[in-house]
Amino acid sequence: MPGLVIVGAQWGDEGKGKVVDLMAEQADAVVRFQGGNNAGHTIVRDGEEFKFHLVPSGILYPGKTCIIGNGVVVDPSVLLGELDGLSRAGLDISGLKVSANAHVIMPYHIALDHSGEARLGKNEIGTTKRGIGPCYADKAARLGIRVQDMLDEKILKKKIMAALEPKQLMLRPYERDPAWAPRLDLQQMTEDLLTFGHRLEKHIADTSSLIWKTLDAGKLALFEGAQATMLDIDHGTYPFVTSSNPVSGAATIGAGVGIHDIDEVWGVAKAYATRVGAGPFPTELFDATGDLLRENGHEFGTTTGRPRRCGWIDLVALRYACRLNTLDALVITKLDVLTGLDTIKVCTEYRGADDATFETFPYHQSVLHRARGVYEELPGWSEDITGCRTEADLPQAARDYLAFLAERVGTPIVQVGVGPGREQQIWTESGQTASKLRPTANA
Ligand code: IMP
Repeated sequence: MPGLVIVGAQWGDEGKGKVVDLMAEQADAVVRFQGGNNAGHTIVRDGEEFKFHLVPSGILYPGKTCIIGNGVVVDPSVLLGELDGLSRAGLDISGLKVSANAHVIMPYHIALDHSGEARLGKNEIGTTKRGIGPCYADKAARLGIRVQDMLDEKILKKKIMAALEPKQLMLRPYERDPAWAPRLDLQQMTEDLLTFGHRLEKHIADTSSLIWKTLDAGKLALFEGAQATMLDIDHGTYPFVTSSNPVSGAATIGAGVGIHDIDEVWGVAKAYATRVGAGPFPTELFDATGDLLRENGHEFGTTTGRPRRCGWIDLVALRYACRLNTLDALVITKLDVLTGLDTIKVCTEYRGADDATFETFPYHQSVLHRARGVYEELPGWSEDITGCRTEADLPQAARDYLAFLAERVGTPIVQVGVGPGREQQIWTESGQTASKLRPTANA
């Protein structure tokens, strides 16, 4: 003990990477437990920018064990590309461990992700086309290729053949396409995977037992969520979701620990809201304010570069996320993006098509798809807050805004982000009892 889980409390891209990066300083192990290279975060360290899709951001600290857990789906070429980039930057990558039980994203998973989105046409989910869904589908169908399979040619070839069998019809157009055909050739795939396996061998491990050792030694294990609560395949806005469970409970399954190994859960939320891809988004803005949030917040995807849909903060969804994840604390990021707005709207409930109002998240998709936010308006602030380092430095209106969120969600705010840099993260006084992990001095 202790185990700290950090998850996204909205639709992703909340700035979890920076929070994980800050807390990783105290941790011995940093663990990814779901998702794959559909995630992406950028860490700014001493002016240098690092982009990660698979490798836990703790890798920037020497001596940390950085784990890709069994619940993650791994594209080995992407992983090796990230490791090569880190080595070139002079960073020590020996602490990176990959679960032998994690599933491998195969070229045919990527082809099927493209084909699935093409088939849906206008109703596409807007996936990242990284093969995430088809890979998890094969895992559930017991047709998956696991990381350990890359170390055994005979098993590997047999498993690839078995996995390809039911996909033949859907893959046919890709096998005829010169851009895809070489990647989908059985012999080529097998050889590529064996090469990847050979290169990754020193990183492949029984990661669950490595985490147990960290916890048994009383050291901090940090479980880093990817995507976010509202994209959870069970609890999110299905089918406009990812194919894994980004909620905190999934940290146990995706890392191989028990529920009593988790001591604290933090949820990260932006001071407003964004979403990438299709699906309901009750507080979405289609006006100049939405454009302003996108520009000021640099709301373009790290993984795909797509412009993000922007809107006001949604407390109905946030309360739902607090319950689902049993959040001990909230981290509010990008508060500085709201600077300059005369008034700020906060969605406190939804209004459905028949004028019914909802304070809690509606379970029925037809209700949710038509729901629109009902807002309370709070005064904005015009002062530049990017230099604020304590809660007391913030303008009164910004403090009132934070107090309103904490009170209406019923969860204390432990940190607030006022810019992309590490030093632009404020530990709040108001939330100081929310976490045992708060250092005594302001970080
Ligand atoms: P997939 O995870 O690539 O299958 O995409 C499913 C949905 O999740 C799409 O709407 C994506 O835009 C969304 N999604 C996946 N990863 C992220 C992320 O890291 N941030 C935000 N949205 C994501």
